[in-house]
Amino acid sequence: LTSEEKSIILNSIRDIPDFPKPGILFKDITTLLGNPQAFDTLMNHLEKRYEGYELDYVAGIDARGFIFGSILADRLGIGFVPVRKQGKLPYTTVAEKYSLEYGFDEVEIHIDAFGEEKGAKVLLIDDLIATGGTAKAAANLIDKVGAHCVEACFIMELAFLNGREGFNSEVYSVLQID
Ligand code: PRP
Ligand code: MG
Repeated sequence: LTSEEKSIILNSIRDIPDFPKPGILFKDITTLLGNPQAFDTLMNHLEKRYEGYELDYVAGIDARGFIFGSILADRLGIGFVPVRKQGKLPYTTVAEKYSLEYGFDEVEIHIDAFGEEKGAKVLLIDDLIATGGTAKAAANLIDKVGAHCVEACFIMELAFLNGREGFNSEVYSVLQID
């Protein structure tokens, strides 16, 4: 990723102060999604990074991880698995609770999401890592259903929160925000 490409992506993301609560500076990726040059620059970068990984699946975190994850899975020619917020998945699930930057939540995955064979190589993806609580819960779910989270990938990392600490898998972020 060149510094010019990095700037194109970074400049397409909008800062919203005090959303969803006072004191939170929200990173709004809708402006990235609406900018075809920035979106394509990002997806080309991710495709190039992961085409050599011999992945079996991309797992995306509800909700914004679905957008990047499903496009990446399709580009890599592999399946996409949603990790969803509690109560959304219709079949038998495995669940994990976690604490968030603002509040508490629970994520779930389908018990058969990665097929019959054990040890599927999975890339986990989300738009943002803050405390890391959501992504660590998601990575645990991937392990719990018999697959292996090779790397956790984020478009943005709030580096000052040290969310990558304590991860069992590799952690990669496109943009680091101080
Ligand atoms: C945001 C963001 C990540 C998570 C990061 O999602 O999209 O998923 O928080 O926080 P953490 O690293 O401290 O766990 P949010 O829970 O706001 O839900 P959404 O993606 O459904 O909007
Ligand atoms: Mg999220």
